Amino acid sequence: MRLAFVPFLAVAVALQPAFCTPSSVLKPRTRTNSLLISPAALPALPSAQQAASASADAGLNLTNIQGDILIGMKKNKELFFFFTIINSTLFRSQLGSGILPLITPTSQLLAVDTQPTTAVNLAFSQRGLTTLDITDDLGDTAFANGQIDNVASILGDETSNWESAFAGTSIHGVFLLASDTVDNVNATLSQIQALLNGSITEAYSLQGQARPADQQGHEHFGFMDGISNPAVTGFSTPLPGQQVIDPGLFLLGETGDTVTRPAWAKDGSFLAFRQLQQRVPEFNKFLVDNALSNPNLTADQNAELLGARMMGRWKSGAPVDLTPTVDDPVLAADPQRNNNFNYSHPGFDLDTDQTHCPFSAHLRKTNPRAGLTPENTANHIIRAGIPYGPEVTDAENASNVSSTDPSLERGLAFVAYQSDINAGFAFLQQFWANNAGYGVDPIIGTDGLGQPDVPRSPSGLDPADPTRIITIEQDFVVSRGGEYFFSPSLSAIQNTLAI
Ligand code: HEM
Repeated sequence: MRLAFVPFLAVAVALQPAFCTPSSVLKPRTRTNSLLISPAALPALPSAQQAASASADAGLNLTNIQGDILIGMKKNKELFFFFTIINSTLFRSQLGSGILPLITPTSQLLAVDTQPTTAVNLAFSQRGLTTLDITDDLGDTAFANGQIDNVASILGDETSNWESAFAGTSIHGVFLLASDTVDNVNATLSQIQALLNGSITEAYSLQGQARPADQQGHEHFGFMDGISNPAVTGFSTPLPGQQVIDPGLFLLGETGDTVTRPAWAKDGSFLAFRQLQQRVPEFNKFLVDNALSNPNLTADQNAELLGARMMGRWKSGAPVDLTPTVDDPVLAADPQRNNNFNYSHPGFDLDTDQTHCPFSAHLRKTNPRAGLTPENTANHIIRAGIPYGPEVTDAENASNVSSTDPSLERGLAFVAYQSDINAGFAFLQQFWANNAGYGVDPIIGTDGLGQPDVPRSPSGLDPADPTRIITIEQDFVVSRGGEYFFSPSLSAIQNTLAI
């Protein structure tokens, strides 16, 4: 057992000139299989050695940055345990010696033999920090005001659909517990609750899990997800087509973060959480009812084509910009090629031509790539969500209607990391997805006024006639609410939050 620590310690020491809690390093190592999923389409994580060298060059301390922030959508099982702090002194007294040793830094996730049984991350809402008597201004008004403040005018949510916990005042923080089994997650949650000794109560929880078998890595509509996160300088080596973004866009106090922050907030990140319900049978019915009319395709293929054009990728993950009429699963599974596009082509008029990809496609809305010059380096997020809820039942498939049984609700536990929520998640939702300019995003767009099921008219869905409007009468994604959190560094937990 001790021998297994040696390689990790060697890497950990190399990675962390400035900060090291022995407790964060000396964790039981029992893993022989990864707690992360690795579908072929998704960019691989850097090896510990690669990350050590890149982070040393960029001055990033990967042993101090919570693990969820930089790794993207790769969790197998993940529990979001939202809590209320009912005894702040007791809570703070248990944070340093009790909880900190369980918190998983980035460095620990990069090799199987250094991964814990359950990866634990911890983040606080503004209300939570205030409850802990941490009154410093972190420099982010969206975080300070909470997500409920953004609800209708910015995000376009209908508040009556919100889970009551998100609409209320009880959420002070969230534990993110990731593993390969729900049993592991639950055992770690029990351990945390015992350590915290009654100082918190559960406000709400949501169990996420990767979808089964060949759907692993796909969200509930069936599309491979998590392919096009940006490469972060100091962490990942860019793949062809992958945008390279300064770490300060995601980590406070790092290169590219221009806001003045309290020193202790360095290497923390703002976490935008959203529970996004997906009406899968209704989405599928819409595709069948509005199938396109390419004469070389079957009716099913024409339905798939409409879905691919709404998303910007085929279900396999292949981008429609590279393969506009037929799916290409080999391209989809090749990270050297599956993100290498920018919507421009020789002889193409980028401002008018939607034959490859509609302007309104979810992918293009949330990252217009060459559609913006100069290249946009200001509005990016790292997506780290996971599907939640069961597979569609036979009865739902037969009726084309989602069940109203709460235990059958399914969707995306959406997580976005950024150093400025108004430039990250909130910007993407408000100014791009909800913007009617090129047609509202057919997946996540709303009218921006907090009204449900307002008909949307995304442009360009039919390649045979881009002026044809295929009206979407119904929301396929329904926001059930969320909150903004701050995910502090390990040193901030030890030196500022713990007493
Ligand atoms: C249930 C809701 C959602 C579903 C089903 C969904 C699905 C997807 C899928 C399948 C992809 C393509 C895979 C990939 O490139 O990684 C994607 C990409 C993306 N999504 Fe979403 N998404 C949802 C919500 C959101 C939200 C709320 C935002 C932000 C406001 C967002 C932002 C993005 C971004 C930035 C990309 C990558 C674009 C690029 O770089 O090309 N998504 N999404």
